[in-house]
Amino acid sequence: MILSMSGSDSMNLPNLKEAGKRTKKPISFILDEYELPEQFKNIGLNKKYYIKTYGCQMNVHDTENIKALLELMSYEETENFENADIILLNTCAIRENAHNKMFGFLGRVKHLKETNPYVITAICGCMAQEENVVEALMKKYKWVDIVFGTHNIHRLPYLLDNTLTRKEQEIEVFSIEGDVIENIPVKRDSKYKAWVNIMYGCDKFCTYCIVPYTRGKQRSRKPEYIIAEVKELVSQGYQEVTLLGQNVNAYGKDLDVDYTMGDLLEDIAKTNIPRIRFMTSHPWDFDDKMIAIIKKYDNIMPAIHLPLQSGSDRILKLMGRRYTKEKYLELVNKLKHEIPNLMLSTDIIVGFPGETEEDFQATIDVVNTCQYDLAYTFIFSPREGTPAAKMKDETPLIVKEQRLYRLNEVVNKYANMNNQKYLGQKVKVLIEGKGEKGNLMGYTETMKLVNVDGSEENIGKIVDVEITEVKTWSLDGKIK
Ligand code: SAH
Ligand code: SF4
Ligand code: F3S
Repeated sequence: MILSMSGSDSMNLPNLKEAGKRTKKPISFILDEYELPEQFKNIGLNKKYYIKTYGCQMNVHDTENIKALLELMSYEETENFENADIILLNTCAIRENAHNKMFGFLGRVKHLKETNPYVITAICGCMAQEENVVEALMKKYKWVDIVFGTHNIHRLPYLLDNTLTRKEQEIEVFSIEGDVIENIPVKRDSKYKAWVNIMYGCDKFCTYCIVPYTRGKQRSRKPEYIIAEVKELVSQGYQEVTLLGQNVNAYGKDLDVDYTMGDLLEDIAKTNIPRIRFMTSHPWDFDDKMIAIIKKYDNIMPAIHLPLQSGSDRILKLMGRRYTKEKYLELVNKLKHEIPNLMLSTDIIVGFPGETEEDFQATIDVVNTCQYDLAYTFIFSPREGTPAAKMKDETPLIVKEQRLYRLNEVVNKYANMNNQKYLGQKVKVLIEGKGEKGNLMGYTETMKLVNVDGSEENIGKIVDVEITEVKTWSLDGKIK
């Protein structure tokens, strides 16, 4: 089937209100093989594309789809945007600085466009789903040729063809709950590790977060398609899959079969792929069945990313996170008890509207209790259209920055402490390639980055490594 049906020639502009609506309308599963119409196949002959990706793994994986579509059109990739015939920015809307980075780069593209008006510029990803961004692009960045959203990546060849023939700004962004589209071509960045989407969108609506608006309703892929994808990866020699979703623990809850994340993990473990990872876990949906399955199968990695966001019950409530500090700690306790050698990481926001010193201290307390291996820490960034952006926020930025600094000091202490345990240990490392220092690099089962002494023939293999030196953010080791 040719996937052009979900678009039209009229402009489709983003609408945050529409994007935040959730209805009972059933999801369409579009399962047919993607087929590029003949007339598009040579559009990119002798031409190059450059793509820059911002944001999360979901975006990184979307970029792998975009690359495949462009290569079907005969475009070749270039690492230098100044050599490109088409420049694509796959954007992230999660915080203001993600916005700023993208607009900063767009300034450089503008200079290039002044000397070479034939270069095509396209903006996609989560920022393309935002009304204020698209308004700015239409008013102040008229020279940007194509804007498309997260729901219509498969439409890129059509939009590109339209732009090349019509030579006017082409904007197509759907503010819809979304479908599940299978079989969009993919060009994977790695031959050893693969991203596998298991679900799209999010229905949690945490009050600070833009994702439910930019990615649509929570919709799980059907298990048989996910399992078939993993089996195919096994047959191609892949060593690791990471199952992706905004809330992987809620997998299956929107399907009309009784099949949950625990069931999916078990079926994927049985494919014998050597390593399975998954992210992100929301504390709310982490059930005992999942824990039992993680414990049961050696190929499910003992590395769990469990965002805390805040350790204060008052702030958690304002954030709409649906758990208390006590529930969170109960879960962490269970995980640490059941899964030996667990690597626990988290996300934390400081300076949420109304956060007091006492609330902040409650967060520090949880960090002291959980002793995370790794924590991604952020200052709250108001996102237009989300409830938290309208909340009264009187804490000065300098205070928020100091809290971030203080939090990071504590986080780093535990990161270092947890790494110290590895000194002299023998661990399994999937060697991914050459490291920065000319040696090899890879990750342990517990997601620790290791710089490894050894020969290149180990690339793509899981090898035993002895840890010889420990740093806060990485380990050094040699192949045993
Ligand atoms: N789905 C994941 C998170 C996706 S966003 C989950 O629920 O855990 C990744 C992280 O960005 C979040 O965990 C949160 O810590 C941070 N984040 C999201 N929105 C933010 C905002 N408006 N300001 C600051 N940090 C934010
Ligand atoms: Fe955002 Fe919350 Fe959904 Fe995560 S669970 S993507 S933080 S709304
Ligand atoms: Fe950013 Fe969109 Fe991912 S907002 S974090 S790229 S889902």
